[in-house]
This record gives sequence, C-alpha cells and structure tokens, in this order.
Amino acid sequence: MVNQFVTVLENRKVNGQFYKLIFRCRALAKHAKPGQFVNLLVNVSYDPFLRRPFSFYRTIGDRIEILYEVLGRGTALLANKKKGEALKVMGPLGRGFKRIVKNKKRILVGGGIGVPPLVFLGERTVVDYFLIGAKSYKEVLPAKELSRVHGKILYSTNDGSYGAKGYVTGLLEQLLRKESPQSLFIQTCGPRPMVQAVMEIARQRGIEGEVSLDETMACGVGACLGCVVETREGWVPSCTHGPVFAFKELR
Ligand SMILES: Cc1cc2nc3c(=O)[nH]c(=O)nc-3n(C[C@H](O)[C@H](O)[C@H](O)COP(=O)(O)OP(=O)(O)OC[C@H]3O[C@@H](n4cnc5c(N)ncnc54)[C@H](O)[C@@H]3O)c2cc1C
Ligand code: FES
Repeated sequence: MVNQFVTVLENRKVNGQFYKLIFRCRALAKHAKPGQFVNLLVNVSYDPFLRRPFSFYRTIGDRIEILYEVLGRGTALLANKKKGEALKVMGPLGRGFKRIVKNKKRILVGGGIGVPPLVFLGERTVVDYFLIGAKSYKEVLPAKELSRVHGKILYSTNDGSYGAKGYVTGLLEQLLRKESPQSLFIQTCGPRPMVQAVMEIARQRGIEGEVSLDETMACGVGACLGCVVETREGWVPSCTHGPVFAFKELR
C-alpha cells in the first residue's frame, strides 16, 4: 500500500460539474483496479484532518487521474490546488469491480460522482452499454473523456437537454425490454436513490450485478467503522469489504 506525498501535475475543470486532478505515482498506478479508490489528504497542514476518498478515474503509465465534483470544504480546497503543489495519497484501497463476466452482456449504469470508476472499468474491460445519467447538458462529459470506453454510451438528462429525457433508470428499462435478464450483468455507481432503483429493477428481473457504494468514510482502512453497510454476513466496513458489493451480498 502506498502512503506518500505526490505533486499535482494538472488540476482543471472539464465541464460544469467535474474537475480533473492528475498526479504521478508509479506504485499506485501499477496496482490500481477499477472500483478501488485512494484517500487524499487535501491539505498537508491536516486541515481538514480527515482524508477524502476518490475512485480511480484512469491510470496511464504512472499517471493517475481523479475526476471529482466540489461538494464541500475538502473538495473546494482540492479544486484550488495548483500544479506543483503537494498532496498525500493512500491506496489503492478497497475491493474493485469484477472484470471478467463470462457469457453475459455487461451494462454499466452511472450517475454523478459514480461515473468516474465506471469510466475506468469501461476502459479496462469490454462493456456492451454504458448508461450515464446527468441533471443537464452542463454535466455531460466531453466526448474526449469517454473516447477510450469500449462500448455503446447512452446519456439521459433530467431536463432532456442531452440524450434521452428523464432518469437513467428509464434508459435501463428500455434496454431491458430487448434483452433476456439471464444474459445480463449490471455494474452501477451513483447517488443512493439511483443505485437503489437500479438494484430494484435488477432484483425484479433476477439480473445479477454489482454496486459501488459511496459511503461517507474516515480512515479508509477498516479501523473507524464509520462506513459500515449491512450485508447478508452482517455489518462490514465498506472501505475494506467494498466499496463494490455484489447485489446479492447486500441486505
Ligand atoms: C469509495 C468512494 C469513492 C468516491 N469517488 C469519488 C469520485 O471519484 N469523485 C468524486 O467527486 N467524489 C467521490 N467520492 C465522494 C467524495 O469522497 C466526497 O464528495 C468528498 O469526500 C466530499 O468531501 P468535502 O469535504 O468536499 O465535503 P463534505 O464537507 O465532507 O460534505 C459536503 C457534502 O457532500 C456530501 N458528501 C460527503 N461525502 C459524500 C459521499 N461519499 N458521497 C456522496 N456525497 C457525499 C455530504 O453529504 C455533504 O452534503 C467517493 C466516495 C467514496 C466513499
Ligand atoms: S472508513 Fe474507517 S472503517 Fe471504513
């Protein structure tokens, strides 16, 4: 496990929602898998004290990319980081997505800050469909950011300003009308109501899959129990047993 200072190479806005942070760390890049994450100490003066978790968005050689949205103080501080400034990173953490899915079509369903790990997965595996939900056109990723994904990408926006109008679950239901449930495998990450709706659709049709849960985290290594989720085996820390869980593992 890596726990070291890195230097910001690039940190800039890519659309109306996301910033992209790039730094180099050979050891981290070598072992990073889609769905795993890093804990970033956004201020080397330890204010805020707690590190913030971010999924790997992409690795290219020893370069690591993180795609993030500014939500509170930690991410606002991160957005102000300039090229050459230091950050402390710990990772790779957690359990990633399944990369081999035999004899099934893979459907990725993402929304909001759940999109970055699915882009990484879509670049590292073959996916049949990648369904992305956004509020409006300003949250749509530039085509260049998705150009390495192996699969058909379909967008929905709540206001209809890009792609289909409505929630991403509408796109999923449309797609499911054409496919037999046994031939599908869904991998999803996004806002809690979205992933719950996706899992409910999957449950009703008996479709297998995995979800990455964005639980609020503190330590990231299973020590504080701040991120526990209820599984069929009992309560487990999401940072070590997840953040990716099979649908059937969860209660
Ligand atoms: C495994 C994992 C992977 C993640 N990957 C990414 C990523 O790739 N890109 C990205 O932008 N964010 C990601 N997040 C969420 C990110 O960690 C939070 O947005 C960040 O910690 C917020 O820090 P803050 O100090 O800016 O906000 P805070 O001041 O801590 O909180 C501000 C607001 O953000 C909300 N918030 C805080 N944590 C989360 C969370 N985990 N999920 C949803 N809302 C949250 C709070 O409820 C609050 O409303 C991930 C979280 C986890 C657990
Ligand atoms: S964040 Fe501390 S146990 Fe998961």
